[in-house]
Amino acid sequence: MRIEIVDDYQAVNRAAASHIAAVVAAKPTASIVLATGSSPMGTYQDLVARHERNAFDATRLRVFQLDAYLGLGREDRRSLYRWLAESFLTPLGVPDDHVVALPGDTTDPDAVCLAFDAAVREAGGFDLSVLGLGPNGHLGFNEPPAAPDSPTRVVDLSEESIISNARYWGGLDQVPRRALTAGLASLLAARETLLLVSGAHKHGILRRTVEEAPSPDVPASYLQVAANVTVIADRAAWDGDGAHLGSRSGDR
Ligand code: F6R
Repeated sequence: MRIEIVDDYQAVNRAAASHIAAVVAAKPTASIVLATGSSPMGTYQDLVARHERNAFDATRLRVFQLDAYLGLGREDRRSLYRWLAESFLTPLGVPDDHVVALPGDTTDPDAVCLAFDAAVREAGGFDLSVLGLGPNGHLGFNEPPAAPDSPTRVVDLSEESIISNARYWGGLDQVPRRALTAGLASLLAARETLLLVSGAHKHGILRRTVEEAPSPDVPASYLQVAANVTVIADRAAWDGDGAHLGSRSGDR
């Protein structure tokens, strides 16, 4: 696991976008799984700016949706698919048939999860995984405790995830209680992983992620034993210094 400490959220975005651009330049048909949430939004904006200068081409990628709220279809404006579409897929021109979604409005979630893992296998696994760090150490919605061999599955959201997502929903009682998530098994097997961490509020969980022995209680801690992982964190997250709070953008 490599840890890159950079000044602030904007520097996280630049560093992450450069990593992603390098992976995609080396393999334009790469299979990548992408988080939503605040952490990668600036990175995606940076990639869109590169695309507008003809310096980044995502049109041959195969993009996998990391997670989805159960019960919400892809057209629902609150769905994570829609967020991914608005921030990455549409501005970068990723064709629809290059996207492996997790349809949250399915009547058969178990079948959707099996099909997702089959699609990951068929793609030969993820070349790149772009992740944010949950306040409780979750990756995607692999809530603690999560075993490192967890498949893609339906999960109950933890209290901490419900609280942290309430800002996007206009209140705690509005947040869905269940979700679909790509499993830790496929995430930990990715050939390259970027974990983006920004803000002093992530300090405690970031330190647990990189310093404690890997355990189901902090699912992200298993990244210590995965191949080719780069944590890109800003100083506020690494040092726990509140001075950098407010430097983030991309919240919605
Ligand atoms: C989002 C996701 C989550 C977030 C995590 C951090 O698709 O899978 O695991 O990455 O909760 O969220 P932010 O970046 O909003 O702090």
